[in-house]
Amino acid sequence: MDDAREVRLRSGDLVRIRQIRDSDAYELQRAFALMSEVSQYSRFLTGTPRLTDSQATYFTAIDHVGHEAYVAHSPDDETYIIGVARFIRYASAPDEAELAITVADFWHGRGLATALLRVLTERAVAVGVKRFRAEMMADNEAVLRLLRSAGMADETVSGELASGSIELAPAD
Ligand SMILES: CC(C)(COP(=O)(O)OP(=O)(O)OC[C@H]1O[C@@H](n2cnc3c(N)ncnc32)[C@H](O)[C@@H]1OP(=O)(O)O)[C@@H](O)C(=O)NCCC(=O)NCCS
Repeated sequence: MDDAREVRLRSGDLVRIRQIRDSDAYELQRAFALMSEVSQYSRFLTGTPRLTDSQATYFTAIDHVGHEAYVAHSPDDETYIIGVARFIRYASAPDEAELAITVADFWHGRGLATALLRVLTERAVAVGVKRFRAEMMADNEAVLRLLRSAGMADETVSGELASGSIELAPAD
């Protein structure tokens, strides 16, 4: 099972999006290490120059229900990850999940995060997630625009951080 599909981005680029696999751990570390410091900080909201082996395992060896992630890669090299979108359900509120999206710097602005979020949302609805919650730097215009386009409501700012939630449409 890896639910793979080819997607044409707003830029015209064709990418492949599939569920993450255990075997992506090393590649995830490589892709993260290549990101700019600003992007790394924007993702984790703290200085994280590298993903440790245990973090990489945590982010890839997942159950695909409580914790789901999709990666994007070019159609001809499925081991070269250029973006990741994930949700992790809250143990205390399992119909809600924390959302996180990261795109390789070279791919920014082409519509990749928009495409990843669409695929992840489809999966979330299918497994019963009703709401995404997200936290980001308050000056992270790209993710704010992405999430507002996806319907982010109750946006609040506290110091350097912003947060909000997206109600997911139930499956027809
Ligand atoms: C946030 C991020 C995932 C967006 O990825 P992306 O593939 O460039 O996004 P898209 O091309 O799909 O664009 C999404 C929206 O952001 C806007 N956008 C993209 N880059 C932008 C920029 N540099 N400044 C302002 N807006 C920007 C797009 O215009 C689009 O807006 P729209 O929905 O109103 O049309 C990417 O910048 C990133 O990986 N940043 C580092 C990690 C991070 O911040 N993650 C979010 C916290 S979990």
